[in-house]
Amino acid sequence: MIVTDFLVIGSGIAGLFFAIKASNYGDVCVITKKKRTDSSTNFAQGGIAAVFDEDDSFENHIRDTIIAGAGLCHEDVVEMVVKSAPDRIKDLINMGMSFTLSEEKKRFDLGKEGGHSHRRILHSGDFTGREIEKTLVDRIKQIPNILLLENHFAIDLLIESKLTKQVPNKDRCFGAYVLDESTGEVKTFVAKFVVLATGGGGQVYLHTTNPTIATGDGVAMAYRAGAKIANMEFFQFHPTALYQSNGVQSFLISEAVRGEGGVLRLPDGKTFMEKYHPLKDLAPRDIVARAIDVEMKKYGLKHVYLDITHLNGDFIIKRFPQIFEHCLSNGIDIRKDWIPVVPSAHYMCGGVLTDKNGESTLSNLYAIGEVACTGLHGANRLASNSLLEAVVFAHNAYEDCVKKLHETKTVKIDLVAPWKYYTYIDPEEMIMIKHNWDEIKRLMWNYVGIVRTDKRLERAKRRIELLKDEIREYYIHFKPNTDLLELRNLTNIADLIITCASMRKESRGLHYNLDYPTTDDSMWLKDTIIFRKPGGYL
Ligand code: FAD
Ligand code: SIN
Repeated sequence: MIVTDFLVIGSGIAGLFFAIKASNYGDVCVITKKKRTDSSTNFAQGGIAAVFDEDDSFENHIRDTIIAGAGLCHEDVVEMVVKSAPDRIKDLINMGMSFTLSEEKKRFDLGKEGGHSHRRILHSGDFTGREIEKTLVDRIKQIPNILLLENHFAIDLLIESKLTKQVPNKDRCFGAYVLDESTGEVKTFVAKFVVLATGGGGQVYLHTTNPTIATGDGVAMAYRAGAKIANMEFFQFHPTALYQSNGVQSFLISEAVRGEGGVLRLPDGKTFMEKYHPLKDLAPRDIVARAIDVEMKKYGLKHVYLDITHLNGDFIIKRFPQIFEHCLSNGIDIRKDWIPVVPSAHYMCGGVLTDKNGESTLSNLYAIGEVACTGLHGANRLASNSLLEAVVFAHNAYEDCVKKLHETKTVKIDLVAPWKYYTYIDPEEMIMIKHNWDEIKRLMWNYVGIVRTDKRLERAKRRIELLKDEIREYYIHFKPNTDLLELRNLTNIADLIITCASMRKESRGLHYNLDYPTTDDSMWLKDTIIFRKPGGYL
């Protein structure tokens, strides 16, 4: 058993930023399921939104966020995040991060992305996430009271009601069961505060920009523990991933490319975004992704094109070095060739419901970063507000935990039951796990994608129920391993997405249902919230 003050699950921007701050007040243990840099953070391209331009204002950033969020943003949260942004950027810089500066090196080189009325995206070329991740990982190495454990997979959260067999008014989380993948042993971690920083769940879809770690583990664990989950129907599809017919992770062509003048075209060269929104190619993401989907279906296309050939070649290489190199290695010289692009699942706007401090509806369980639903994004996230949300809520959560630290006691550890092992492995059944993964991803892509209908949702629900039964069988009989645990979590979040999507009888932001094609005004500010009694396998 490992006992600590702060147990942080996840080593992306949210978890590491929290850990660095919290380490000034207590011992921190960061666990992460693969290598420390395996995270969505590491892949972020465009950058992080904050008001630094003198022609811009907090009011503008607040307004843009609320417009993109299509009536579900919580305005107090938006205001808090936008106004905290410059301070959190300064924190990142103090931790060692450097953002690209303008030619004269006097100010930040601010980028532009869809839905933003002004230039306000701080970036580091198109390697922003990699630089942030490296900065934070380097910083962690210098802090002796942070223990970072790689290849440690959090399986389930520990909650007080299971320990005392009593149902308190508000249940409390005090730790987690964690699989040490190097030994196969399941360890018990006990902490005063548990921080879920497990990122998103794009792997639930067949095509996604998300890395393989993004299997929705945090939402699934929190749901099983009885925490409230919100707005899972709002899964954001990025309009422009590089068209490739295979692969588990699609390569992103940053929205910043359109911010610098990139134009979407059909194969005959015609533009089409002017038919869909006055901001054309820089309309909010839900609108651009749906427009591409409509055009592809109308003409039976496998992809559309993104054209930046009119930009200066040297500028392209300097501003987008990663995209340039990656496309070139796939035979596309973006200085001369149009880039074939398709929408791809990108960001989970819903998640574990939290307050402004990042605390979930279970005491002492915090959710920060993409795993959370804080009220910032509403029905559609504004570009580059995600990295921002992660640092703002990591900071707020740290401040809240520190306030409560002295009055918080760890549970009586001798009451905590060790993990109950099932050691049997059936190689033939393990193959079925791979098949089930594939089935879920296709099912979600085909029936619960950019455009939904009641019939498709019902069909998806029926299939997921069957899969849940099968996976429960595997789970209670076999030795835990990553593939099985991730499959269990993916099934859980697929189920949550389908359930939330079925509950919303309107179209809004990222949720578009052909049976209810319009927005229902009475649903303004109404989140979809679900929770259940804790326990059970799924
Ligand atoms: P992550 O960075 O995903 O980290 C999650 C961590 O949790 C990982 O370390 C993972 O291994 C660990 N973990 C997960 N489950 C478990 C478990 N069961 N046990 C132990 N550890 C676990 N947003 C922007 O604002 N600007 C951008 O420019 C931008 N570009 C993007 C480009 C791409 C290609 C992608 C995929 C996303 C982009 N986003 C961008 C979104 C943004 O990068 C993510 O939302 C953000 O990085 C999430 O940070 P996080 O700390 O919450 O999670
Ligand atoms: C991008 O660079 O287009 C991604 C930005 C984001 O997801 O916020």
